[in-house]
Amino acid sequence: MKYDYLIVGSGLFGSVFAYEMNRRGKSCLVIEKRSHIGGNVYTEEKHNINVHKYGAHIFHTNNKEVWNYINQFAEFNRYTNSPVANYKGELYNLPFNMNTFYQMWGVKTPEEAKAKIKQQKAEANIDEPQNLEEQAISLIGRDIYEKLVKGYTEKQWGRDCTDLPSFIIKRLPVRFTFDNNYFNDLYQGIPMGGYTKIIEKMLDGIDVELNTDFLEDKDKWMAMADRVLFTGMIDEYYDYCFGELEYRGLDFEFETLDMENYQGNAVINYTDRETPYTRIIEHKHFENAVSDKTVITREYPKAWEKGQEAYYPMNDERNTELFNRYNDLADKEGNVIFGGRLGMYRYFDMWQVIDEALKLVKSLE
Ligand code: FDA
Repeated sequence: MKYDYLIVGSGLFGSVFAYEMNRRGKSCLVIEKRSHIGGNVYTEEKHNINVHKYGAHIFHTNNKEVWNYINQFAEFNRYTNSPVANYKGELYNLPFNMNTFYQMWGVKTPEEAKAKIKQQKAEANIDEPQNLEEQAISLIGRDIYEKLVKGYTEKQWGRDCTDLPSFIIKRLPVRFTFDNNYFNDLYQGIPMGGYTKIIEKMLDGIDVELNTDFLEDKDKWMAMADRVLFTGMIDEYYDYCFGELEYRGLDFEFETLDMENYQGNAVINYTDRETPYTRIIEHKHFENAVSDKTVITREYPKAWEKGQEAYYPMNDERNTELFNRYNDLADKEGNVIFGGRLGMYRYFDMWQVIDEALKLVKSLE
């Protein structure tokens, strides 16, 4: 049988696209090189806890259409992301808000907090920030920079803040209320039962082949459908003919602990430079799961090498130029479309992936 669409990748982008095309009466085949569906939003149940296998995934958006869309596949709880920072054993609330300022300086009113930040900015006396360190200090002063920004950012990027460009942090969220909600978006939550159930619903009734790498037999797969949606890496698709796009990598270290509650919060960031991981996720707190065990993940940022899972695109000048060259080739394709975070080489939150996939479907009508 020849399908209308071959969809390469069963992540959120490929799955939304497949669901929508299937609904419109188009026949679809989804192929996925991993042993499971869902791409990076994949969750797996362990001891009654939905474990986010590729890092914490919190759904948040201001887009009502996208929020209504995703809610047809799952009921969302009222989870609010309120990470805590651990700096050498001192605990601070995030994002920077009145709780943080009280913990840092003992100040109790917005006026006192503003005065403290103003004083620290003035002491820094930086006119034109030349690097990330100067940019951060000129935005929030030295104390918050040194305890909550410096080490975390250096681990994340694998470079000193003085060697990182200032544009990485155009602004830092500062809030003069006692509000630990990390996101400003109107809608936020975690799908009860995990993300994999959402993807299962989207792909219900659609042919899916796991453990199947499109690029190992491109011609065979191309011949199986009229059009192809490719959500893998665009440079890999073109056999790296112009060179490799760069990413930041991540290692996840999972541990099951024989205790009910390890850290009392889903996300704790370790903001000193010496601790090798950036954060510890305790999965049960995303859904208040009841279990006498708990599962935690330590996240270690690392340099990325070809062949490893790619997590964060490095959208600097070199990589943007390189991506544009690949994108020019993509524009010339007759029946291959590129989508998703790897096909479009962009960091997308989940709501953006849904939005982009729905726009693509509309453009093909
Ligand atoms: P995704 O990578 O999920 O899917 C692509 C699929 O294609 C993969 O399954 C891959 O195996 C497959 N594939 C690739 N090449 C192939 C080939 N040659 N043949 C067959 N299959 C192939 N967002 C958010 O809103 N809130 C959050 O809290 C987070 N948190 C978060 C944490 C971390 C650590 C990361 C890295 C990302 C987030 N995100 C997020 C972003 C979120 O993960 C992202 O928006 C979506 O997973 C992207 O979905 P895609 O379908 O585009 O890619």
